Amino acid sequence: MKLKLAVLGSGAGSNMQSIVDAIEAGTLDAEIVCVLADVPGAKILERAARHNIPAQYLSCAPFKTKLEGEAEENYIRVMKEAGADTVVLAGFMRIVKPGLLAAFPNRVLNIHPALLPAFPGLHSWKQALDYGCRVAGCTVHFVDAGTDSGPIIVQRCVPVEPGDTPETLHARIQVQEHLAYPEALRLLAAGRLTIEGRRVLIDGR
Ligand code: GRF
Repeated sequence: MKLKLAVLGSGAGSNMQSIVDAIEAGTLDAEIVCVLADVPGAKILERAARHNIPAQYLSCAPFKTKLEGEAEENYIRVMKEAGADTVVLAGFMRIVKPGLLAAFPNRVLNIHPALLPAFPGLHSWKQALDYGCRVAGCTVHFVDAGTDSGPIIVQRCVPVEPGDTPETLHARIQVQEHLAYPEALRLLAAGRLTIEGRRVLIDGR
């Protein structure tokens, strides 16, 4: 079934771009019905406007790191009014709370720049590098009440190369992110995903 996506971001929006590109290429049965950013002037808004996608800054004040209270209600209202059935967190630098999860049950997805459950939280690619990992990667998962803890849909990995800096490693991970998010959404759109406890089954397996 065609997904109606609301994309939430705070920054560059390269993941949103990969989703737009997949839709425009006809490889993902979805429509982005709104893009919301918690940072005024975030590049993700510019990118959305270029593709004629309704996009706006929506304040999360007074909170700095979470989406709660009146701000959460505003986000839910705008997304519902736009007809969204699925929420895509794409570089949205806030913790979402149970109110939003209840408004879109099992329909909130996130992408994290690490192979979860390793390195949840911030600057995960730097954490992987500092730890001395030989591989790093990204994870697309359903969002639950914890931080970066929900059932995993897709993971893709990359090697950590000698001489990598946080920037070179993050860039290599992002190439895989841009494949992973459309891939996860394609599975969702095709109705191939079911959640069974911690596990996400694809085609029942
Ligand atoms: C990505 O690395 C994503 O994994 C993380 O935030 C970054 C967002 O990048 N959650 P972009 O805004 O999609 O370019």
